[in-house]
Amino acid sequence: MNPNKALWEKGDFIEIAALMRQSGEALVKSIGITRPLRVLDLGCGDGTTAVPLARLGAEVVGIDIARNLVDAGNKRAAEAGLNQLKFQEGDACNLQGVSDHSFDLTLSIFGAMFAPKPFDVAREMVRVTKPGGRIVMGNWIPNDPTSFVSQLLKISSAFTPPPPEGFVSPMTWGVDAHVIERFGQAGVPKEKISTVKDTFHFISPRKSPADLIESFRRFYGPTMNAFEAAEKSGKVEELHKQLLELANAQNTGTGGGTSIPATFLRVTVRL
Ligand SMILES: C[S@@+](CC[C@H](N)C(=O)[O-])C[C@H]1O[C@@H](n2cnc3c(N)ncnc32)[C@H](O)[C@@H]1O
Repeated sequence: MNPNKALWEKGDFIEIAALMRQSGEALVKSIGITRPLRVLDLGCGDGTTAVPLARLGAEVVGIDIARNLVDAGNKRAAEAGLNQLKFQEGDACNLQGVSDHSFDLTLSIFGAMFAPKPFDVAREMVRVTKPGGRIVMGNWIPNDPTSFVSQLLKISSAFTPPPPEGFVSPMTWGVDAHVIERFGQAGVPKEKISTVKDTFHFISPRKSPADLIESFRRFYGPTMNAFEAAEKSGKVEELHKQLLELANAQNTGTGGGTSIPATFLRVTVRL
C-alpha cells in the first residue's frame, strides 16, 4: 500500500474538517468566482472547499488519495443536490487520466502539500490548469508559532520515529523559496507567483481545546501515529500535555468552545 494513502485513510479526517467549514467557505468566497468555472480541488478531503465552490456555480472535480474521504464527499454532494460536483480518487503526484489544461482554477487547501513528491505535484498542477487560469494553494508554515497545524505536526513528529530517507517535509510548501523553485521547475516564472499570509480558523462552539486534541488523537493520521509511537516509548502523557498546551495557548474561543486562528501561506500562481 502507498504509505501516503495509508496515512490519510488511517483516520477519519471528516472529524477535523467539521471545524474547518466556516473558513473553507470564506476562503472560497475570497477567490472571487465571477463566472462559471471548471475547478479542480486537489487533496479535497470531504469537500470543505469543494462544496462551497460548487454552491457558487462552479463545476468542480475533487481529487483525493483517500477512498473514505472521496466517498464521504460524493455523499455530501448528493445530499446537497450538487450535480456539478464529483469526487474521485487520485494522487496529486500523478494526475493520470486528467487532461492537460482542463481547469480554470486548481485549488489545494492543505491538500497537495501532503503529497510526497513536491516537484511532481507542481508540474501536475500546472499541466492540468488552462493557460490564463490560476492555481491557489493554502500551506501551513514551518516554525511559525501561529501556524497551529504546523506546530501540532512538529510536536507529533518529535514523538514519531524518523521518516524514511529522502522524505521531504510537507511544511516546506509554506516557504516562498520552495514554492518558487517548484513552480519554476514546472515552467512558471517567479513574477507569476505571489504569496501572502492568511488565517484559517478551527471553530467549534461545543468542542473544547481538549476535545479538539482528542479528535486529532483519534482521527488524524499523523497524530494517531505519534500517539502509537508514544505508547511504545511510554511518552503518551508528555505528548498529550504538549498538544493540549498548544491548543489552549492558541484558543481564542470563549464559553468552553474552540476558536483557533491558524496562519497559513496563501499561494497564487497565474498561468
Ligand atoms: C489536511 S487534509 C485537507 C483536506 C481539505 N482540503 C480540507 O481543507 O478540508 C489533507 C488532504 O490531502 C489528501 N492527500 C494527501 N496526500 C495526497 C495526495 N498525494 N494526492 C491527493 N490527495 C492527498 C488527504 O487524503 C487529505 O484529504
